[in-house]
Parts: sequence; structure tokens; C-alpha cells
Amino acid sequence: MRIIRSIRGLQAWRRKYENQEIGFVPTMGALHEGHLSLIRQARKHCSTVVVSIFVNPLQFGPTEDLSRYPRPVKSDQQLCRESGVDLLFWPTSEEFYPKDFQTSVKVSRLSCCWEGEARPTHFEGVTTVVTKLINLVRPRHAYFGQKDYQQLLVIKQMVQDLNMDTKIVRCPTVRESDGLALSSRNRYLSERQRLQSARISAALRHGVQLIKRGTRHVTTIQKELKKVLRTAEGLDIEYVAVCDAHSLARLTRAKGSMVLLAAVRIGNVRLIDNMLVKV
Ligand code: PAF
Repeated sequence: MRIIRSIRGLQAWRRKYENQEIGFVPTMGALHEGHLSLIRQARKHCSTVVVSIFVNPLQFGPTEDLSRYPRPVKSDQQLCRESGVDLLFWPTSEEFYPKDFQTSVKVSRLSCCWEGEARPTHFEGVTTVVTKLINLVRPRHAYFGQKDYQQLLVIKQMVQDLNMDTKIVRCPTVRESDGLALSSRNRYLSERQRLQSARISAALRHGVQLIKRGTRHVTTIQKELKKVLRTAEGLDIEYVAVCDAHSLARLTRAKGSMVLLAAVRIGNVRLIDNMLVKV
């Protein structure tokens, strides 16, 4: 596996691989089974697999966890190597955003709701970094987890709006055996919080079941979801919602392709999860 730290190095590498079908997995490191499942998908469908590890400062708000975000460099490199990654792009912040950097990419409507309300500059940071990465890597396919469902929709919209020649591939959320969605932030949870956090997926599953069994009144579904969440000690609900799976507009009656969204706080940790359902 090659490791490249400079933009020029990556551009030179890319010129040599002009005819390759590149599969790209952008990450912020602290790799877990969720990331590895994306790498496996890329490995399966593409001749060359590129992973980037970059803790993108632009997507963290002023009070968020940028400085304490986990950076287990050695084990991340090892995991990439073992997963058959061809190239690891691992730039420094100074390399990626030089002093006079002044451009940003914003997807206006989809970035404003839900996570965008809670984290007003987050998606602009994500779309800016992903634009730069896609421009550099020029992948045929780029792989994103459903776990960050709104991020996935925002990036799909951006790729469509900017005519980027990359297909965004949605990969299923990987979960612990008790249902907790894998996230690099799970490592902040104490053992007790970790156990309580399984109520998030339990609540979403309950919501999906209610819809599948015929409940259509969204207020009722949301109340039921909250009831399950409230069985967890120390868990504060930020939002739960039943939305249109494409526009993320809040629904009043369950219909069509939907996504159930949840964002909660447990101690200092903010966790999000979602499940799709169709009627
Ligand atoms: O999902 C993530 O890990 C990040 O938001 C991404 C897409 C790598 C951009 O920094």
C-alpha cells in the first residue's frame, strides 16, 4: 500500500492511473468495521482502492470535538493495509487548506435541516472537503455509509449539481450485536452509556415495525419512538422524525419512501442513527 501525504504526490499518482476504475472511501480515520465494510465494497467493484484519512477541521463547530477526535494513525494504516487498500491519502491540515484557502461548497436546502440546524457549518465543511477529495482522486465510485444519511443525500445532491463524474454508493449501516450503529464517537461512551445507547436503534426499529403494521399517524409513531428512548437513562433526545427519504421533509402521515431519524445526547456524546422504511 502506498501512502501519499502531499497533493502534488496524489496528482502525480492519479495521472499514472488514468485508465483505472478507482473506488474511493473518504474517512476521518479512527477506522472501524463500518469503514472496513465500505473498503470491502470498493475492493469488490473497483480495480484500485483509495482511502483518505483527514480529520477535516471545516466540518467541526467551535465547541465540537476536533482536538480530541481520535487519531489512531498506526492502527488505521494497518487496517488499510490488511484490507487491500492500494493508496492511502493522508494529508496534513496545512497541506489540504493552505493559508490563503477561501473557497467553499454549499448545498443550500438539504444542508439546512436536522443535522444542519444542530451543526450550522457542518455540511458546508463536508461538501467542501469532499469536493476537493473527489477532484483529486477522480473516482468512478465513492462509498458512504447510510449511518450519516443526511450527509449521503447532501453529497449525492452536490455530485449531481456539479456534474461530478462519480457515482455515490450508499452502503448499509454496520451495527453492534445489540443494534448500536458503529461510529468513531462510540469510543467516547462509558460502558454504561454504551449499553444505554442501544435504545436508539431499538426505538427506530420499533418505529419501522409500527409503520409496517399499518400505523400512519406520524405524531403517534414519534411518541412511541420517544417512549423507547426514554427507557434509557441519561439520554437526551435532540430530535426524532419521520421524513421523506429524498427531501428529508417532515411528514405528518407515513407514506412512500421514508427515513426515521434520531439524534440524541448521552453525556458529552452526540449520536445519530436512522432507518429506512417504505409503504
Ligand atoms: O463521514 C465522514 O467521515 C466525513 O464526514 C467525510 C465524508 C470523510 C468528510 O470529512
